[in-house]
Amino acid sequence: RRLLGVAGGAGAAGLLGGGVADAVARRWAGPAETPLTATGATAVPFHGRHQAGITTPPQAWGHLVAFDLVPDAGRPEAAALMRRWSRAAEAMTAGRPPEGDNQIALDAGPCSLTVTFGFGRTFFGKTGLEDRMPEALVEMPPFPGDDLDRSRSDGDLWVQIGADDPLVAVHALRVLQRAASGTAAVRWQMNGFNRARGATERPRTVRNLMGQIDGTANPDPSDPDFDAKIFVGGATGGEAWMDGGSYAVVRRIRMLLDHWERLPVDRQERVIGRRKDTGAPLSGGTETTPADLTATGPDGTLAIPGDAHIRVAAPASNGGATMLRRSFSYHDGHRDDGAPDAGLLFVAWQADPTEGFIKVQRKLAGGDSLSRFLKHESSAMFAVPGGAEDPDDYVGRSLLE
Ligand code: HEM
Repeated sequence: RRLLGVAGGAGAAGLLGGGVADAVARRWAGPAETPLTATGATAVPFHGRHQAGITTPPQAWGHLVAFDLVPDAGRPEAAALMRRWSRAAEAMTAGRPPEGDNQIALDAGPCSLTVTFGFGRTFFGKTGLEDRMPEALVEMPPFPGDDLDRSRSDGDLWVQIGADDPLVAVHALRVLQRAASGTAAVRWQMNGFNRARGATERPRTVRNLMGQIDGTANPDPSDPDFDAKIFVGGATGGEAWMDGGSYAVVRRIRMLLDHWERLPVDRQERVIGRRKDTGAPLSGGTETTPADLTATGPDGTLAIPGDAHIRVAAPASNGGATMLRRSFSYHDGHRDDGAPDAGLLFVAWQADPTEGFIKVQRKLAGGDSLSRFLKHESSAMFAVPGGAEDPDDYVGRSLLE
C-alpha cells in the first residue's frame, strides 16, 4: 500500500481560475504528500494469546455482525471458514490487501483495525460439538424490561470489527462476508461509532449519546486480577480450547433520548452518580477518584443516590462481579414515532458471564434509575476463543480440528 496521501483536486482546479482553484483543490485534497498520521499508521497485531479487540482501545468505527451456518455446513466447513477468516483478518490488520481484494481500503494504512471472532450456543449443535460447549456459555436469562427482537439476537458466529477509519472497517466487513459465502450467511449487523482519534486534545474516556463519560471505572489491564476476571485461564478437558479466551455479551440498548434530555443536568448526574462534564463521582474528586459509596452531603443524604447507576452496578454491590465494557454508540435514523433510533451497542467482556454481566444486569433491571431511560432491544452471548498464536494457526483451531 502507498503510505502517502493523494494529491488530487485537478477537476476542481480545471473549472475555477487561479488562486480560488488552488484553494479549493487544497481544501479537498489536503497538502500533497501528507504522511500517514498515527491514526492511519497504527497496526494492532492479529496474533497473540488473546484476540485483538478486547483490550484494544475502542476505535472510531465498529461493525458487529452475526452469521448463521447454512444448512449443509458442518464442522469441516466451519473450520475452513475460520481459516479463511483468520488469514484475511491477519492481512488486513497488518495493512496488506487480503487475497482477491476488492480494493475498498487500498490507499489506507491499518487504522488500528481489529477483527474478533466468537461462537454462539447454536454453533455447537450444528457442528456436532455439543460436548465441547463451555459451561460458562449459558442461555441468557430474561430480565425485567427486556424488549428483545429475536431476529437481531443470538447467532452461530460473531465478528466484531473495529477501525479508526470507516472505509477500512467496511472493507473488512465486506471481505469477511464474501469469504463466508456458501458456508455462513449474515443474521444481523449493527454499525456503531466512538470518537475519531485526534478529536480531543489528549486521549480521554469516550462519551456516549447521553453525553456521559462512559468507561471510567472499567477494570484496567494493569490490575492484578484483570486477567482472572476477563480472560479464561487454565481451562482443561473439553474446554481447553477456551484458554486465553473470553465471553462477550452484546446488547443493543436504545436510549430514550427525548425523555433523558428533558431532565435537568443535576438530575441526570444523580441518575448515574457522576458529574456529566468531568465524569467525577458525586462523592468528590476528579474522574479517576474512586467513588465513595458511603459519602453523605451536607443534608446527610447519600452523595451518590441509592439507585444511582454506578452504585447498583459497582462490583462492591454485586459480590465483586466485574466486566470490561467496550461499546460503540449507534444512531440509525428515527423511528415511526419520531424518536431517535439511537443508543449503545453494549459489549461486555468477562471470564464468566454468570459472574459478570448476568449478575449485574439482574440488579440494574430490578431498579437502577438509568433503566427508565433505556430499552434493551437485542441480546447475544459468544464464546470468544484465545488468539491465533502464529501464522499457521487460526482462531478456533483447537476446537475445530
Ligand atoms: C458505569 C452508562 C449500561 C455496567 C457507567 C457509567 C456510565 C454508564 C456513564 C459511569 C462511568 C463509568 O465508570 O463507565 C451506561 C449507559 C448504559 C449502561 C448509558 C446503557 C445504554 C450498563 C449495563 C451494565 C453496566 C447494561 C451491565 C449489566 C456498568 C458498570 C459500571 C458502569 C459495572 C461501573 C460501576 C462502578 O464500579 O463505578 N455506566 N451504562 N452498564 N456501568 Fe453502565
